[in-house]
Amino acid sequence: MKRAASQGIHNLSTKLKKWINLSSLEVQLTLGLGTLFALSLGSVAFWTSWKMQRILIDSHKDNLFTVASQVTEDLTFYSEMLPMEKSLQKALDNRSSRNLLLWVEQDDKSIAATSPAIARPAWQRVGHPNELSSHFRRDEPFDLYQIRERQLVACHSPLVLTNQTLGTLFIAQDITQDQRRIDGNIQTLILATGLAMVLSLFAIAYFIRRSLLPLCQMQTMTQQISAEDLGETQVVLPKAPSEIQALANTFNMMLDRLSEAWTQQQRIGERQRQFVADASHELRTPLTIVRGYLQSTLRRSDNLLDYQREALEVAASEADHTILLLQDLLNLARADGGYLSYDLQILILNDIVADVVQVAGQSFERTILVEAKSSLIPIYADANRLQQILSHLVENALKYSDEAEPVHIKMEQINQKAVIHVCDRGPGIPPQHLSRIFDRFYRLDEARTRSMGGTGLGLSIVKVFAEGMGGQVTVSSELCKGSTFTVTLPISATSP
Ligand SMILES: Nc1ncnc2c1ncn2[C@@H]1O[C@H](COP(=O)(O)OP(=O)(O)OP(=O)(O)O)[C@@H](O)[C@H]1O
Ligand SMILES: [Mg+2]
Repeated sequence: MKRAASQGIHNLSTKLKKWINLSSLEVQLTLGLGTLFALSLGSVAFWTSWKMQRILIDSHKDNLFTVASQVTEDLTFYSEMLPMEKSLQKALDNRSSRNLLLWVEQDDKSIAATSPAIARPAWQRVGHPNELSSHFRRDEPFDLYQIRERQLVACHSPLVLTNQTLGTLFIAQDITQDQRRIDGNIQTLILATGLAMVLSLFAIAYFIRRSLLPLCQMQTMTQQISAEDLGETQVVLPKAPSEIQALANTFNMMLDRLSEAWTQQQRIGERQRQFVADASHELRTPLTIVRGYLQSTLRRSDNLLDYQREALEVAASEADHTILLLQDLLNLARADGGYLSYDLQILILNDIVADVVQVAGQSFERTILVEAKSSLIPIYADANRLQQILSHLVENALKYSDEAEPVHIKMEQINQKAVIHVCDRGPGIPPQHLSRIFDRFYRLDEARTRSMGGTGLGLSIVKVFAEGMGGQVTVSSELCKGSTFTVTLPISATSP
């Protein structure tokens, strides 16, 4: 259960990683533009809410200072007709309203007058005037306060009448309602901004995807271009923006140049292949005749001196080698040109291996051990070419291992394939050479192998034949322990 869950999370994260590929231009542009847009929208929303708050406070500030000067004016007026205490109360009452609280505090902190009268709900919400004024900052004539979960703007100023200071006039306005309205507006603004950000992110992603679509089309088109149709293919994107069309035109020009170079290269390659094929063919015929004469002379002449016989034998053996070399070259040239034919049929692998082992065992006078998982392993191949493959591998195994060490051939059928391993206990092949030993004329450590003869074409022939018959050849080797060459071929025409 736990494993299934962690597997699910792993799959999801792999898919997400594939989808959000940070190195892709599309994701980078979307993220870049999205961030820029979010930052601009966010700053506008932030500035708007800050400005709304400022406007609210500034409008009340002006209002409170106007009320303060009006109270002084009223007090001056009433004091001419009424005693000071009554004038003060009247002046305050004149300016008080539902959310506007006024009071005068004397120097000894006693309250000279309040409006509206104390014990009204307006005072109950914020507390007694004495308690209230203790919250106010005396060095700030105007400020915003939060008292008992109410928002207040308040100002204070000395109350002076004909050069006599009567105390300090406090005016506080409860702006909780206004503040709530503004908070509501700010919340709506934040929501609208968030929504606008999400919508714009989608719009940006869609727009960028649409703009980059011609590039993807160009990629798909170019992926389908093969070396053969370089000349005929043109990347055409009629609806693409002009920059991408210019890129496509440049690409088409490059395709034309590549096509010309490729055709020229093909022609040169074809001429070289033709030359190698013709030369091998032309040389092989007279050389075969020479070898024939040499062999018949050796067979029929009884009166040859020893050194003459030896010279003729060397000449016949060299002619033999050269004919084999020419045959290999001819085969490789044909394979390169694509006209090396295979006579494919279902054969019994065990029989072919037995023939090869018999011939190789006789000429090398060495032990070759054969192990087969079944006595009838089918194989779908050209008998002649399969024999050549096995002869080359067995010959190498014998040539490059000590005479005392046996060579093993193991055969098995795995699924729909016949698998042949040729194993030796020779010096092995250093890892840095492993990838190159199938190259033409590649021989490692010339000094070591020169005495053994050979041209370095055997393994290239093995590879060409194995792949030509729908199979493959691989090698594994360990220094001082030996090498194993593995050939895999289909067992029938329909097997993969
Ligand atoms: N079984 C092996 N053990 C060690 N080295 C090997 C083995 N088989 C091949 N090699 C190395 O790979 C090189 C290429 O082998 P390849 O069969 O292509 O050429 P060759 O044997 O030198 O000549 P030829 O064309 O006569 O076969 C050899 O020269 C040898 O150095
Ligand atoms: Mg060889």
